[in-house]
Amino acid sequence: MAETFAPDRLAADKAARYAEVAQEIAAVLEGEPNGVARMATVASMLASSFEHFFWTGFYVVDPDKPQELVVGPYQGTLGCLRIAFGRGVCGAAAASGETQIVDDVHAFPGHIACDARSRSEIVVPVFGPDGRLIAVFDVDATEPAAFDRIDAEGLERILKATFG
Ligand code: SME
Repeated sequence: MAETFAPDRLAADKAARYAEVAQEIAAVLEGEPNGVARMATVASMLASSFEHFFWTGFYVVDPDKPQELVVGPYQGTLGCLRIAFGRGVCGAAAASGETQIVDDVHAFPGHIACDARSRSEIVVPVFGPDGRLIAVFDVDATEPAAFDRIDAEGLERILKATFG
């Protein structure tokens, strides 16, 4: 019998996959203090865990220009190098300190198009142990409305456990 569409089942599967990959990331990173190694590992493991992750990576707060993000470890096509706080989706997450979910990037004022194939996006702020913003984590998808609260909760949990 053909499988019927079951959004609740898909949601449960996605939440379960986030919980699983959270454990995998913690196991791989145990005892590794280097921040670049930790970011590169998170980007790689998340990008290979979810089909809808087209661009996956970090923009870090530039220590020399604290109101500016500079590209960090990522998986995907060429990303732009620098984003000012307040600009685009990443800049909005950095300035507000809140996760941004954008169903249609073309409708987002000031969206920065690094790759024209990106249609929807989630950006999660990343805080260090002292509660200060250290980076944002950006995931782009080629389909519209690819991200929801389950992605936000799954990513927020992993980023807090890894960098908080
Ligand atoms: N779309 C982002 C820019 C970064 S990239 O897509 C890799 C934004 O508007 O913040």
